[in-house]
Amino acid sequence: MTERKPNQKNWRPSTKLVRGGQRRTQFQETCEALFLTSGYVYDEAAQAELAFKGELDRYIYSRFKNPTVAMFEERMALLEGAEVCHGTATGMAAVFSALAGYLRAGDRLVVSRALFGACRYVACEVMPRYGIDVEVVDGTDLGQWKAALSRETKMVFIESPSNPTLEIIDIQAVADLAHKAGAKFIVDNVFATPVLQSPFALGADIVVYSATKHIDGQGRCLGGAILCDAEFSEENYARFLRNTGPALSPFNAWLLVKGLETLTLRVEKHCENTRKVVSYLEKEKAVTKLYYPGLPSHPQHALAKAQMQDFGSIVTFEIDGGKKEAFRFLDSLKLIDISNNLGDTKSLITHPATTTHQNVEEAERLRMGIGENLIRVSIGLEDPEDLKEDLAQAFKAL
Ligand SMILES: Cc1ncc(COP(=O)(O)O)c(C=O)c1O
Repeated sequence: MTERKPNQKNWRPSTKLVRGGQRRTQFQETCEALFLTSGYVYDEAAQAELAFKGELDRYIYSRFKNPTVAMFEERMALLEGAEVCHGTATGMAAVFSALAGYLRAGDRLVVSRALFGACRYVACEVMPRYGIDVEVVDGTDLGQWKAALSRETKMVFIESPSNPTLEIIDIQAVADLAHKAGAKFIVDNVFATPVLQSPFALGADIVVYSATKHIDGQGRCLGGAILCDAEFSEENYARFLRNTGPALSPFNAWLLVKGLETLTLRVEKHCENTRKVVSYLEKEKAVTKLYYPGLPSHPQHALAKAQMQDFGSIVTFEIDGGKKEAFRFLDSLKLIDISNNLGDTKSLITHPATTTHQNVEEAERLRMGIGENLIRVSIGLEDPEDLKEDLAQAFKAL
C-alpha cells in the first residue's frame, strides 16, 4: 500500500474527515479499498512466527488488525486528536471494553445516573459481578461528584448529553475531580458527535462512540470506537481487544469511513432541522415539558453553549398523558418512523420507558426522569416542514 499523505495532523477537520488515514493499493483507487478478508498469508512459516512475536509489522488476522478498519481508526484518531483509536463491532463493545480492559476486582467506578439503558447495565450490573464497586451520582450535581470522588477511584464514566433526557455534565469539572481521585475519565460522546464536542480538550482520558449513530448515520451498520493515548492503549486495551474479539468488521469499517466524509455536513443540517422542530414543539400545547440543551430554559443551557459547538439532533418531550397517549401519538405518525436508533438521516421516534430503558428498575427509571409520557425524537435530514406537519397531525390524534 502507498504511504499516508504527510502532515495529516495539520489538516483542518473537514480535510481529515475526507482524507485522513487513507492508504491506496497499487491500483491507485480513488475510494478507500475494502479488504474483506479474515486473514492474511505468509511466504514462509518463519514469517508467521516473527509476526506473532511482534518482530514483523504486518497484518496477521482481522480480529487483530485489518487495512480498512485501520483507515477508519486513523481517521477517527486524527479527528479527535487522539493517539490511538480501536474500532469495535458496536458502541456497546466499545463501552464494555473501555471499562473491562482497565478495571480489576476491588476497583471503584463512579458513573452518572443518566445513562443509556445498556451502558447502565454494563456499569451497574455487569461490573459488580467482577468485584468492582460502583457508585451512581446525579451527573449535573457537582457536590455529588465531589463527595463520590473524595475517595480513591479507578474510573469515571459519563454520557453528555445523556440519552434520552439530554442532561449536560460539566466535563472539565468532572475531569479535574476524577484526576484528583486518581481515576481515568471516560466520556461517551455519542449524542454530541465528534463534530460538536471534543471531550479530550475538556480533560477526558478515553472517549467512546457508537459509530452506529451519526458516524454511519444512514441506518446501514453497527460500529464503535475507543480513543485514548498510546501508552494507555498498549497497557490496557491492545491485548485485551485482540484476545477478547470485539473487532469491527471490515465491511462496516468501510461504510463508516465513507460516513465520516459527510459527517460535518450531515450534523450541521441535523442541528438546523432540530432547532426548527423544537421551535414548533415549544408552541404545541400537548407538550408539557421539552428537553433540548439549546433552549434557554434548559437547566444546563449555559454549560451546553460553553462546551458544545451546537446542540445536537435529539429532542425529548413529555406529553399530557401516559403510556396510552404516548403510544397513540407514535402510532399516528405517518412520516417519522418508530425506531430506537438515532442519528440517522431518517427521523426516528422512540418511547424510552418501554424500549431503551425498559430493563431499568421502575423507581430508578423515574429518578432518571424517564416517565411513561416521555418521547425521544432523533431529527433527520427530511424537510423540517414535513416533520412539523407529521408531528402536528399526530398531536391532533391525541
Ligand atoms: C449513548 C449511547 N452509548 C452507547 C450506545 C450503544 O451503541 P450500539 O447500539 O452501537 O452498541 C448507544 C446506543 O443507542 C447510545 O445511545
